[in-house]
Amino acid sequence: MQAHLPNDMSTEISKIQNLIQDELQLVERMLTNKNQSTVDLANSVSSHLIQSAGKRLRPMLVIFSALAVGYDDAENIHLDLACIIELIHSATLLHDDVIDNSSQRRHQKTAHLLWGNTASILSGDLLYAKAFRMIAEIDSPAILYVLAHATEKIVEGELEHLNCRRKISTSKLTYLNVISAKTAKLFSVATHLGAMLNPSVDCADAMSEYGHHLGIIFQIMDDILDIEAPESLGKPQGQDVMEGKPTLPLILAYEFSSTEDQASLDALFSNPETRLADIQPYIDKTNALALSRQEAEISGRLAKDCLLTLPDSPYKQALSDLVDFALLRQH
Ligand code: IPE
Ligand code: IPE
Ligand code: MG
Ligand code: MG
Repeated sequence: MQAHLPNDMSTEISKIQNLIQDELQLVERMLTNKNQSTVDLANSVSSHLIQSAGKRLRPMLVIFSALAVGYDDAENIHLDLACIIELIHSATLLHDDVIDNSSQRRHQKTAHLLWGNTASILSGDLLYAKAFRMIAEIDSPAILYVLAHATEKIVEGELEHLNCRRKISTSKLTYLNVISAKTAKLFSVATHLGAMLNPSVDCADAMSEYGHHLGIIFQIMDDILDIEAPESLGKPQGQDVMEGKPTLPLILAYEFSSTEDQASLDALFSNPETRLADIQPYIDKTNALALSRQEAEISGRLAKDCLLTLPDSPYKQALSDLVDFALLRQH
């Protein structure tokens, strides 16, 4: 799963993963089984994504949160939830690569380039449907509500981002609202549901907030990595500028530019021919990458504060280490 990671980072995440190796293996098996369809095309498209090198971060969050509150029921609902959340994540990725017209994910060609947009969208829909069938089997209206609401929010976030397309003057507040919905919501739901599995430990709200902050860090770093593009990322460089998506480094470059440079940036960003290299001088001049990293670090401190309510355990430590991982990741 980590064949493409640089050594130091690979060790870091695998040390965290090792704590729940058995659980992750069971989730992996469940994902392969649940992903089966009677339609060959659907199998090809979704297996292409699901069998590739995803970090499985969201399943890890569900499992660590459940174990951190002492969940140890033989029913293993935390593993079902971990699988459900990765299926939802996979559906959003199939859709997102069509929306962003992206050519590469997880070091391989995207599904829409191999099988077309229609097959990708329908396969994404199928993954959503499979996730909701699994949710129905859990038979809990509270869990159904949380996951249905999260799905609504993710789609609204992607739509809201479309609304900001080619507008580099988008405010930081609007950006934060967009990423709260499109990315941080699923993180927040992962940790919330994990913690909800043991109602006698009263920290589901704090854990939901932890997931939110971690998701914010995660997307800010994703936006930085889109510009820095280390080989280990496995995604193309400069996708966000090409698609006219105003990300935090771009928004801050605009905010801290002179009026004259802002006018140039407005013109450049609204032009579909513009590429990252055209905007890079403004990013460098305003130190926008370092400023973005500072924003992520603030969320890192907020995330760690939320963990204070948890009893000490190796799982709580793992959740704290995941904050550091999110801030340092190169993939
Ligand atoms: C990619 O998420 C989408 C974002 C929210 C930035 P991940 O970076 O967790 O993707 P995989 O599952 O590890 O490929
Ligand atoms: C995250 O945004 C997409 C979802 C939450 C579905 P991005 O568009 O930045 O994600 P990548 O870079 O394609 O993975
Ligand atoms: Mg994308
Ligand atoms: Mg991105």
